[in-house]
Amino acid sequence: MGFDYRSGVLCAEQISLEDIARQFGTPCYVYSRAAIETNFARFAAALAGRTSLIAYSVKANSNLAVLGVMARLGAGFDIVSGGELARVLAAGGNPRKVVFSGVGKSEAEIEQALRAKVLCLNLESEAELGRVDAVAARLGVRAPVAFRVNPDVDAKTHPYISTGLKDNKFGIAYDDAERLYRDAALRENITLTGIGCHIGSQLASAAPFIDAAARILALAERLARAGIELSHIDLGGGFGIRYQNERQAPIAEFLDGALGMLAGRKEMLMVDPGRSIVGDAGVLLTRVEYLKPGESKNFVVVDAAMNDLVRPALYGAWHEVRQVREMESDAVAGVYDVVGPVCESADFLARERSLAVRPGSLLAVMSAGAYGMVMSSNYNTRPRPAEVMVSAGAALLVRERETVDQLFAAERLLP
Ligand code: LLP
Repeated sequence: MGFDYRSGVLCAEQISLEDIARQFGTPCYVYSRAAIETNFARFAAALAGRTSLIAYSVKANSNLAVLGVMARLGAGFDIVSGGELARVLAAGGNPRKVVFSGVGKSEAEIEQALRAKVLCLNLESEAELGRVDAVAARLGVRAPVAFRVNPDVDAKTHPYISTGLKDNKFGIAYDDAERLYRDAALRENITLTGIGCHIGSQLASAAPFIDAAARILALAERLARAGIELSHIDLGGGFGIRYQNERQAPIAEFLDGALGMLAGRKEMLMVDPGRSIVGDAGVLLTRVEYLKPGESKNFVVVDAAMNDLVRPALYGAWHEVRQVREMESDAVAGVYDVVGPVCESADFLARERSLAVRPGSLLAVMSAGAYGMVMSSNYNTRPRPAEVMVSAGAALLVRERETVDQLFAAERLLP
């Protein structure tokens, strides 16, 4: 969606990626605003008629322009750092729709969030409850809090992005929840607002999500019987997208299951999707530098690398690689590994792909809108790519390409 061929050339909405490469250079992330809006609309439609909040998970793609689009759609924001809070505010996001998650919030971050009057802090440990209570007391305010409960459900996804099992660092143990809620309820500087969970990312089927929702609801009912009424239930994010041709449950399947269970309950339903909003709304555009045929493998060396998109190296993630020009003159057809210039064997973007390319050809690494630019680094002193958003028929630069000078401007030589 958002990226289709027109007259044999891959376009972002109606703008050719060749034109974008010419104007902004490569490597370059390109986003489609229309695709982001369509993805958001799918959540809005599935939740229509229910008091709900779609809190976009900022970590997936935190470019200010992306956050600005989300703010204009009326989204809330799921954040995990003071830095992300600052971005949300800079992009015009409403702090009253911000939930602050994460296992390691510092005192300064807690203070920043309370001063900004966020909707709630999602607490992940008993120690954190003590810290938030103390900061709130010092500021003379009541801190709105929810607990992130670990429902001990197997999300059946990649172990690095699975978060809902007992031995993960995330959330409080299910069996401790009631005790911690009772403790929090007695504290003068704490207001209990909700309960949440998040079992992992890139969930392919709705079943574990719905299991987790059932366990969280059962807990909410138990708390209500103990006199602890909550105003929201946050079921997290994790809705997977299709990278290859894997079966992927539609958003509505996840949400209909949860909505069924919530029928007749008055709590606001929150979800915090990241990947499913921005994942397929972005590509990494890269240019072929060299063809390197070999005895056992052929390589296409491109100008993007693992520092620009680390998912293949880190998770063995599969991203589709498309030729920007479907048919190119002088192209050499073959089966290639698509690799970058970084000095690591893990520096690949794709393996064993049938392509017909030549030096100078453009390739688009698809579905790179989520966990792409945000996880980039400057390894090998490589300036990070530019980011471009296509909006209303125009390609707009939303982040300048870094310069090498910027990379070491904060460093100092010894005297
Ligand atoms: N809520 C919480 C509490 C989370 O920890 C996450 C993601 C989300 C929401 C959003 O999940 P999503 O809807 O995007 O699946 N870097 C990995 C993904 C890490 C996800 C971390 N938490 C990747 O590239 O696949």
